[in-house]
Amino acid sequence: MIVCVCNNISDREIRQAMDLGITSMEELRDALGVATCCGQCFSCAEDILTEQLAAQAAATEIKETVLKRPAFAN
Ligand code: FES
Repeated sequence: MIVCVCNNISDREIRQAMDLGITSMEELRDALGVATCCGQCFSCAEDILTEQLAAQAAATEIKETVLKRPAFAN
């Protein structure tokens, strides 16, 4: 889905940028140009950012939990 019509940026591109380390709207604006023209996409992009950060945190928590299991310890 296109999130930023002005700059033709999709939700997939936003998520890919976040997989590469972007964690804030400011970084997203600098890297992709999201919300740098009319600004109508700001809240949608921010929602995707928040959702993706939560998903990344959950994945990290699951990974840490699995690695603490006896089968993986030592
Ligand atoms: S839709 Fe993103 S800046 Fe206009």
